[in-house]
Amino acid sequence: MSIQQTLSIIKPDATKRNLTGKINSKLEESGLKIIAQKRILLSKAQAKDFYKVHQERPFYDDLVKFMISGPVVVQVLEGENAVSKNREVMGATNPAEAEEGTIRKEFAVSLEANSVHGSDSLENAKIEISFFFSRIELVS
Ligand code: CMP
Repeated sequence: MSIQQTLSIIKPDATKRNLTGKINSKLEESGLKIIAQKRILLSKAQAKDFYKVHQERPFYDDLVKFMISGPVVVQVLEGENAVSKNREVMGATNPAEAEEGTIRKEFAVSLEANSVHGSDSLENAKIEISFFFSRIELVS
């Protein structure tokens, strides 16, 4: 067990439906602490850069278009095994496969409009957190 930090993004489908508070409740009820948070509108260049690991995938252009279609809430979550804990709370990428009680089961609309993003490893969490936040913005 170790205290970790992970990056979470509440995506445009969820911010448009005013679900930020409900999603934050689920995160907090799981024991994760939101130690930084901001609501922003990504530029196309920023969205392309953030998701560049997927640039060869057929869904990349649509993913970028979707991520700039409205505000996102970027946040840093902290807690015991925060990376895997957050992925547990989010549920499977495809909401059709997400477990009961997870954020994606409850709120996601489709594979693309799946309400939240979460870092998939501790290594990527560090890269993704530093993409959006400076150290002085993280208040644990
Ligand atoms: P996310 O965790 O933000 O990481 C990449 C995103 O691409 C993913 O969630 C999905 O919303 C989106 N996506 C769209 N199509 C696919 C697909 N076929 N496989 C995986 N991810 C997809």
